[in-house]
Amino acid sequence: MPYVVTQSCCADASCVVACPVNCIHPAPGEPGFAEAEMLYVDANSCVDCGACATACPVDAIQPHTALTPQQEPFVALNAEYYEVFPHPDRTPLALVPRQRRLGRRGPFRFAVVGSGPAGMYVADELLRHPEVTVDVIDRLPTPYGLVRAGVAPDHQGTKQVTRLFDSIGAQPGFEYLLGVEVGRDVSHDDLACHYDGVVYAVGAATDRRLGIQGEDLAGSVSATDLVGWYNGRPDKQDLRVPLDHERAVVVGNGNVALDVARILTTDPEALATTDIATLPWAALSRSRVREVVVLGRRSPAEAAFTVPELVGLAGIEDLNVVVDVADEPIVGDSAKLRLLAELAARPRVEGRRTLVLRFRTTPERILGDHQVVGVEVTRDGQTENIDCGLVLRAIGYHGAPVADLPYDPASGTVPHDRGRVRPGVYAAGWVKRGPTGFIGTNKSCAQETVARILDDIDAGSLPTPSRGRAELAATLEERGVVPIDRVGWRAIDREERRRGLQRGRPRLKLVDLAEIGRVAREAQPRPGYSAERRRDG
Ligand SMILES: Cc1cc2nc3c(=O)[nH]c(=O)nc-3n(C[C@H](O)[C@H](O)[C@H](O)COP(=O)(O)OP(=O)(O)OC[C@H]3O[C@@H](n4cnc5c(N)ncnc54)[C@H](O)[C@@H]3O)c2cc1C
Ligand SMILES: NC(=O)c1ccc[n+]([C@@H]2O[C@H](COP(=O)([O-])OP(=O)(O)OC[C@H]3O[C@@H](n4cnc5c(N)ncnc54)[C@H](OP(=O)(O)O)[C@@H]3O)[C@@H](O)[C@H]2O)c1
Ligand code: SF4
Ligand code: SF4
Repeated sequence: MPYVVTQSCCADASCVVACPVNCIHPAPGEPGFAEAEMLYVDANSCVDCGACATACPVDAIQPHTALTPQQEPFVALNAEYYEVFPHPDRTPLALVPRQRRLGRRGPFRFAVVGSGPAGMYVADELLRHPEVTVDVIDRLPTPYGLVRAGVAPDHQGTKQVTRLFDSIGAQPGFEYLLGVEVGRDVSHDDLACHYDGVVYAVGAATDRRLGIQGEDLAGSVSATDLVGWYNGRPDKQDLRVPLDHERAVVVGNGNVALDVARILTTDPEALATTDIATLPWAALSRSRVREVVVLGRRSPAEAAFTVPELVGLAGIEDLNVVVDVADEPIVGDSAKLRLLAELAARPRVEGRRTLVLRFRTTPERILGDHQVVGVEVTRDGQTENIDCGLVLRAIGYHGAPVADLPYDPASGTVPHDRGRVRPGVYAAGWVKRGPTGFIGTNKSCAQETVARILDDIDAGSLPTPSRGRAELAATLEERGVVPIDRVGWRAIDREERRRGLQRGRPRLKLVDLAEIGRVAREAQPRPGYSAERRRDG
């Protein structure tokens, strides 16, 4: 029975390397891989060995027989890909990359700023070289960036990529300095004099603004803040999210818009078994929101959300998914348009929560004196008000300037050449490419950056650090900063899982900074140092 790639694919291509018959495409290096929303298994060539399922970090590949009814549409999606792109050559790819050997003797010490997917993949690539040690620094007291604090709690399969990150963090030569903000607690110059190189993988911290009247009213909230809130980011727990009106409006048509709309319309009981933070879950349980209207300013064909996410939405029981295109017919033969047309024809069932995908509708201003009461929109030249008590902006992220680094304000990125800002300073992930792409996209991005680092090591062009790592720890201590190291993080992780187990949840996130610090400090032998491992002592 063939295997099938399902919606929680994060496009990292681990399955491609594992497949003995080269039947998963597009593969790295093939046209379409960089933009692929997911990969596809060719059912006609699959020999049912299961190697891909073992390799997949997010459990996205399932045997045909194990699919849930919601995953069934993926059989046709996988098959359809091969009707268009047959990939007739089935020679095994043998994609195991040749291990590059360094031309110079180490040790080399690198700081990676940011512990999201990009930072973790960079650390992994660097640690393939026994001469290298890596300290991963993050301003949050817990690692994994948007995987912990962005990916929706009802996508627990996707969050399982943290198992891969756990194993990266367990390698010799790896250490965390969590709860340390570069630009506040340490400067770039501090890092530059303690490390051979610094890699910035700081993501895109801010949201894009609509630039319309009423954007700063109470009840106008950015999706960036909302996802941090429901995912338990300590600094977002005080967010005010009015849920007392029966309608909310989401502006934007990407996957983040679908995520936040879905969470607002999901039965709270279904979220009770996830790692959603406690207070937001309680607020959602009391929510009076029954309808969420998602505004796309363009046509269905131009929607930025991806097919796997739309399939997931369409499969939710007890939710009306309404497609509103006014009188314009949905024409086109792509999988996305076919599914939207099918949804447009579905009857609305009374009594269910409803998610409306409304297209070609532009928000003109947000209405209200102090608190949002509605949104004025235009469609096809007609103006209309939509009553609501909450407006969520989900129109994309934007990278903030990184202290002491060049910055392109238009793209919100650090200018670079294939990841090299200058010898000794590098970028990876969203701060390098801009805020698009899946978790796995950051893997090839990290590989490109690390290739430049290795070039610079071999060329002898890295500046020599003047001070040792222990001196950095002393500097931090002088400034009253006590980093959480990997022993501390493991203690936090254990405690969250222990509390989760008691409630039938994968973890119960700690959200209070003082408590997080206490749990970590009790486990750490002394502040900011792990007694175990280190290749460089
Ligand atoms: C809401 C949301 C949901 C998503 N869901 C999915 C999904 O389901 N599947 C999928 O494949 N992709 C998903 N993505 C995309 C995916 O999360 C990104 O591709 C990925 O996280 C980008 O990785 P990054 O490492 O560049 O940035 P991030 O994940 O943002 O990591 C950056 C890290 O840098 C740290 N940092 C920032 N500034 C500093 C500083 N000055 N000092 C120290 N540390 C700093 C931050 O705290 C953070 O931990 C989602 C994205 C969003 C926004
Ligand atoms: N499950 C998943 O795999 C998952 C989940 C979440 C996020 N992600 C990924 O993370 C990345 C970021 O996602 P995102 O949703 O933040 O960004 P995105 O995909 O870039 O979508 C942004 C949306 O906002 C709209 N928009 C921008 N400016 C607007 C304005 N002024 N008024 C109205 N609409 C406006 C855009 O419309 P236009 O097209 O008209 O500009 C677009 O629909 C994406 O690559 C996404 O796929 C993946
Ligand atoms: S089950 Fe085996 S043959 Fe089939 S796609 Fe997976 S790795 Fe390839
Ligand atoms: S997440 Fe990675 S390993 Fe899993 S199916 Fe997608 S590309 Fe393959």
